[in-house]
Amino acid sequence: MSNPGMMTGRPLSRRAVLAAAGGGLLAGGARETGAPGLRDIAAARGLVFGSELRREVLQQAPEMAALFVHDCGAMVPGHEAKWDYVEPKQGEFHFTDLDFLVNFAELHHLQIRLHTLLWSEALPDWVKQALEAGQGAPILARHIAKLVGRYRGRAQCWDVANEIADPRWHGGPEGLTMTPWRRALGPGYVAEAFHLAHDADPDAILFINDDDLEHDTATGAAKRATYLRLVTAWKRQGVPINGFGLQGHLKPELPFNPPAWRAFLRELAALGLELHVTELDVVDRHLPADPALRDRLAAELVRQFLDVTLDEKAVSMVMCWGLSDRFSWHDEDPDFRRADGRPARPLPYDASFHPKPMYQAVAAALAAAPVRN
Ligand code: G3I
Repeated sequence: MSNPGMMTGRPLSRRAVLAAAGGGLLAGGARETGAPGLRDIAAARGLVFGSELRREVLQQAPEMAALFVHDCGAMVPGHEAKWDYVEPKQGEFHFTDLDFLVNFAELHHLQIRLHTLLWSEALPDWVKQALEAGQGAPILARHIAKLVGRYRGRAQCWDVANEIADPRWHGGPEGLTMTPWRRALGPGYVAEAFHLAHDADPDAILFINDDDLEHDTATGAAKRATYLRLVTAWKRQGVPINGFGLQGHLKPELPFNPPAWRAFLRELAALGLELHVTELDVVDRHLPADPALRDRLAAELVRQFLDVTLDEKAVSMVMCWGLSDRFSWHDEDPDFRRADGRPARPLPYDASFHPKPMYQAVAAALAAAPVRN
C-alpha cells in the first residue's frame, strides 16, 4: 500500500508517478479512441467532470489510469484523506497514498477535491476517546492545520464538514446531528472547523457535503430546510463556507421533484455558494434484476437529475463516486447491497470498463448544460 519514496508530499516527476501507477497510460494520457471524454464535454460548457479514485483501484487495475484521465478533470480520494486513513493511531501518519493521488492529479492537470475533515464515520477510536475526554478542540485544530496545510495551494476544494445535519437522528435544537463532535464541542464546532481550514489555506474552496437532499421525501425536505437555515446564519456570522456538496447517491425508489430541487439549488446559490455534485451514482438495489433494464432506468434518472441540476449555473462540478461498477462501494455496504446478491451497477462504466447508458446520459446532460463563464 505504501511507497516510501512518496513520504515528502512534494510533487513527483511524471516518470515516478507513471511507474507507480503501473503504466496503463498512452503518451499524454490519450486513449486509443481519440474521442472526447466527459472532461472535454464538460469543459466545453465551463463545467468540470470528475470522479472519486482510490489508490488501490489503480494498483488492482492499472488500465483505470488511462480511463480516469480520459474522462476526468477532477479527482477526489475515496478514502485516503479520511482521519482513519491518515492517522489511525495518534501521531502515526499515513500520507503516502494521499500524496500519490495528489501527485497523480497534478501530473494530469486534474482539479483536486479532498474529503473530508469532519465526519462522524471514518473516525479512529483514539479520536472518539479524546472527544469523550474533553480533548476534542485541540485535536480538531491540529488535524485541520496539518491536513489542509500539507496540501495548501495544491487542493482546490475541501469537504470540511460531511453529513452533519440529519433530522432522522436526534439532533441538537439548532438541527445539527448529535455526532461525537456536536456532543463534545457544542453547535459551534462547524464554524470553528471552517475558520481553521480557512486559516490553513485561505485560497481553498471550503464545502459542506451531504446526501439524501435530492429526494422529495420528508427527510429530504427537512434536511434542505435545516441547511438553508444553518448556512444562512453561518454566512451572516462570517463563517468562510464557500460551497455546498450535493452527494447525489440517487435512489430510484424515492420520488424526485424537479421544481422543489431546482428551488433548493436557487436558494443555495443565492447564499453565494459554489455548488458541486460530489458523489453521483445510482443506488440500484431496488431496481429489477435484469442488467439492461436496470442500466436504462438508472441512466434515465441520472439524465433527469443532471438536467435539472445543471440548469443552476452555480453548479460548477459533477463528480461520480467512482467510474466503474467493478470498484463501487455498494456491494461492500450491507445497507446498499442488493437482496438478490447481484452486483450493483451504479456507475458510468461496467465492471469490464465498457461505457453503459449512464455514460451517455452524463455526456448528454453535460453537453446540454447552459454554458458557464
Ligand atoms: O483499506 C482497508 C483495508 O486495508 C482493510 O483490509 C479493509 C477491511 O477492514 O478495510 C479497508 O478500508 C475500507 C475502505 O472503505 C476501503 O476503501 C474501510 O474499512 C471502509 O469503512 C471504507 O468505506 C468507505 C466509507 O465511505 C467510509 O469511509 C467507502 O469505501 C466509501 O465509498 C464511503 O464513501 C462515503 C463518503 O465518504 C461520504 N458519503 C457517503 C459515501 C458512501 O458511504
